[in-house]
Amino acid sequence: MSDALALVEQGDGPVATVTVNRPAALNALDADTLSALLEAFTTLADEPAVRCVILTGAGDKAFVAGADIKAMAAMTPAQAGALGQSAHRLGAVIAGMEAPVIAAVNGFALGGGCELALACDFIYASRTAKFGQPEVGLGVIPGLGGTQLLSRRIGLARACELLFTGAVIDAEEALRTGLVNAVCAPAELLPRVRAVAEAIARRAPLAVAAAKRAARAGAELPLEAALELERQTFAGLFGTADQQEGMRAFIEKRAATWSRR
Ligand code: CAA
Repeated sequence: MSDALALVEQGDGPVATVTVNRPAALNALDADTLSALLEAFTTLADEPAVRCVILTGAGDKAFVAGADIKAMAAMTPAQAGALGQSAHRLGAVIAGMEAPVIAAVNGFALGGGCELALACDFIYASRTAKFGQPEVGLGVIPGLGGTQLLSRRIGLARACELLFTGAVIDAEEALRTGLVNAVCAPAELLPRVRAVAEAIARRAPLAVAAAKRAARAGAELPLEAALELERQTFAGLFGTADQQEGMRAFIEKRAATWSRR
C-alpha cells in the first residue's frame, strides 16, 4: 500500500474511494492527514466523472481512532483552533460537493473519527465498529464538528449523553439511534457500500446533486424556507435535458441515458 495519508482509488468508474491511511496510529488525524484528506476531497469535488465517494480507514481495526492525541497534547489554544478550522473546512467540502459521500466505518470511529463519519452524507458500519466522543475523558470537547453534527443526526438528548459520558457504543446501538444507516459483516461492508454508491451513480447526476443540496441546506433552515428551497430546486430541474430524458425513458419503458445537462 502507498504511504499517502489519504489514498484515492478511482479507476475509470464513477465511484471513488478515499482511505485514511495511518494504520499504525489507527488512522488518527494529525494536521498532515487532515490536509491530505482536504486535498483529496477538493480534487474529487472538481471531477464531474466522480458520482459518489466512499470514505473508509486502512486496516481492519479502525476507521479513524480520533484526532491525534500525541500531536494535540502540546498544542496551544491557537493551534487547537487551527486544527478545528481545517476539519471544519474538510466537512464543508464534503457537504458542498455534488457527489454524495458515504462513510464505510470499518472499526473504531472515536472522537474526530466519529466526527469525520458524521461529516459524510450517511454511514454504513461493520459489525465491529465502535462509535463515541470520548473527548471529555481527555479534558476537552469534540473540536471537529461533533458537538453540532451528532445532535443533528441522533437528536440532542442522545447526543448529550454520548458527549457528557464519553461512552463508546457498538454498531447495533449506532443503528438503533440512527447514527448509522446499516450494519454489515466486516467482509461485506465495502461491497455493500460500493453497491449503494453504484446505485447512486446510475441516477441522474444533476438530480442527485440537487437532492443533496436541498436536503443538506434545507436541514439548517426553518421549514417554510426549506420548502421554498425545495420548490426552487425542483422547478430548476425542469427543462434540463436529463429531466426530459428521464421522464421520456419512463414513458418509453427504457433505461435513461444521462447527459448531465
Ligand atoms: N491519537 C494518537 N494515536 C492513537 C490514537 C489517537 N487518537 N488512537 C490510537 N493511537 C495509537 C496508539 O497510541 C498506538 O500507538 P503506539 O503503538 O505507538 O502506542 C496505536 O495507535 C494502536 O493503538 P492501541 O495500542 O491503543 O490499540 P488498542 O486496540 O489497545 O486500543 C483504542 C484501541 C481503544 C481505539 C485506543 O487506541 C484509544 O482509546 N484511542 C484513542 C481514542 C480517543 O480517545 N479518540 C478521541 C481523540 S480526541 C479527539 O478526537 C478530539 C477532537 O474532536 C479534536
